Amino acid sequence: MFGKKKTSPQIDQEQLELIKKAQKRIAQKKRLYAHFVLFLVGAAFLLALNLVFKFGEDQRYLDLDWSVIVVLIWFFFLAYHFISVFIVNKFINKDWEAKQLAKLVEKQKQAIEKIKTKNNLQIPTPKEIETLENTSKKIDTISNLTIIVAAGEKNEIGKNNDLIWHLKDDLKRFKALTSGHHIIMGRKTFESFPKPLPNRTHIVITRQKNYIVPEGVVVVNSLEEAFKFIKNDNQPFIIGGGEIYKQALPYAEKIELTRVHDTFDADTFFPVIDADNWREIKNVFHTTDDNHEHEFSFLTFERI
Ligand SMILES: NC(=O)c1ccc[n+]([C@@H]2O[C@H](COP(=O)([O-])OP(=O)(O)OC[C@H]3O[C@@H](n4cnc5c(N)ncnc54)[C@H](OP(=O)(O)O)[C@@H]3O)[C@@H](O)[C@H]2O)c1
Repeated sequence: MFGKKKTSPQIDQEQLELIKKAQKRIAQKKRLYAHFVLFLVGAAFLLALNLVFKFGEDQRYLDLDWSVIVVLIWFFFLAYHFISVFIVNKFINKDWEAKQLAKLVEKQKQAIEKIKTKNNLQIPTPKEIETLENTSKKIDTISNLTIIVAAGEKNEIGKNNDLIWHLKDDLKRFKALTSGHHIIMGRKTFESFPKPLPNRTHIVITRQKNYIVPEGVVVVNSLEEAFKFIKNDNQPFIIGGGEIYKQALPYAEKIELTRVHDTFDADTFFPVIDADNWREIKNVFHTTDDNHEHEFSFLTFERI
C-alpha cells in the first residue's frame, strides 16, 4: 500500500520509432517466410497430385502439366513478395522519399531562379505592391482634383483642431487658388473656421445624418458623395484635414503644398507624398519676415 511508486519506462520518441520500424520489419519477414513454407508444401502437394497420383493428367497447356504452370505462377507471386520485402522496402523507404522530395524542391528553386534571371523579374516587395496599388488607383482620379495643404517638415498640419502657424502669404495663396471653387473638407476642419469662407462652395463630409450648417454649405456623408457636387467645377479642392487628405489622396491629380521648414508639436498629419506617384513641378521659396515666423516653400506636385 505504501510501497515505492512505480516509474514508467522513459523511451524517447526516436527510440520508439526505431522499435516500431523493427517490429514492422520482423512481421514482414515472418509473413514472407510463412509464404515460402506454404509455397514449398503447396507446390509439392500439387506436383504430387498431378504427377504421382495422375490427377488431371491430360490437362496440359503450352506443353506443360497444369501443376507446373500453377507452381510457376505461384513462384512468380512469391518472387514479387520477396522483392517488395527485401528490395523495394529497402530502397524506397521514407528516407528515400525525403531525399527525393528535397532534390525536387531544389530543382524547382533553380528553375524559378533561372526564369527570374532570364526575364529580369523580381518578386515585388510589400512597398512596391503598395505603390502598384496606388498607381492603379490613378484610373479613379477626379479630373483636376487638387489637394491644398500646409505641412511642417514632418508632415504636421494641426493641433487641437487648429492650425499651428500663421503665415500671411500662405493664407493669401490659399484664398487666391480656392476662390470661386468647391472646397471639400472634413467636419472637424469646417468647425475650425469661425464662419464659412467667402466666395467658395463648402462641401462638408460627416457621418452624422442631421448635421446642421449655415445656408449654402453642402453636407455629404462620404467622399464619393462629395465628388458628385464638383462635376461642373474645373478646379475643385480638398482642403483637409488629416482624415480627408488621407482618403482623398488616391483621387487627386495635383497637390499644392506649402512646406513649412520647421518641426511642430502636432496631432494631425498629412500622408507621406510617395515619390513614385508624384513629381514636383514647382518650388518657390519664401523667407522669414515680420509676417512670417517660419521659412516655407510653395511646392506643386503632379501625379505621375
Ligand atoms: N495645415 C493645413 O493645411 C490644414 C488644413 C485643414 C485642416 N488642418 C487641420 O487638420 C485638423 C483636422 O483634421 P482631422 O483629421 O482631425 O479632421 P477632418 O479630416 O477635418 O474631419 C474628420 C471628420 O470628417 C468626417 N469624416 C471623415 N471621413 C469620413 C467618411 N469617409 N465619411 C463620412 N465622414 C467622414 C467625420 O466627421 P463626423 O465625426 O462628424 O462623422 C470625421 O470626424 C485640424 O487641426 C485642422 O486645423 C490643417
